[in-house]
Amino acid sequence: MKKLETREDIQQLVNSFYSKVIKDEKIASFFTDIAKVNWDEHLPKMYSFWESILFGQMTYKGNPMGAHFPIDEIKAMEQDHFDRWLQLWTETVEENFSGENADLAIYKAQNIAKLMAFKMEIARRL
Ligand code: HEM
Repeated sequence: MKKLETREDIQQLVNSFYSKVIKDEKIASFFTDIAKVNWDEHLPKMYSFWESILFGQMTYKGNPMGAHFPIDEIKAMEQDHFDRWLQLWTETVEENFSGENADLAIYKAQNIAKLMAFKMEIARRL
């Protein structure tokens, strides 16, 4: 299977991931109804986000928590939503890539999801 090495690989991965996300009955609504995502803007951000994480090229300059807090206020992002997000991400990585960066993409997503869920839990109590 192919290694995850280039921005083109990331584009393929991210595009395949979101094509699953928008069909998923558990989490699609966050993207389609709540955030009403502008895909022409969101996808390049996600390419840069993963490029920064996996290849250390700091092309992503955003603030992921700042994007998720307002969504959580409209509809709580619960553990089962994070689990489904991670399940779709892991599936998509494993269907398309193998090797160190593929493993890292799964591992990093798990850690970020954990941290995100934790920060949301705290924010809800404030
Ligand atoms: C329940 C799980 C999740 C849901 C429902 C969710 C949903 C969303 C939505 C709706 C947006 C906003 C898009 C827009 O406003 O155009 C977004 C942005 C983003 N998400 Fe998530 N997300 C989840 C988990 C994650 C995880 C685990 C990561 C990282 C591994 C992540 C990384 C990002 C990044 C980097 C952005 C772009 C932020 C920016 O504007 O710079 N998300 N997400």
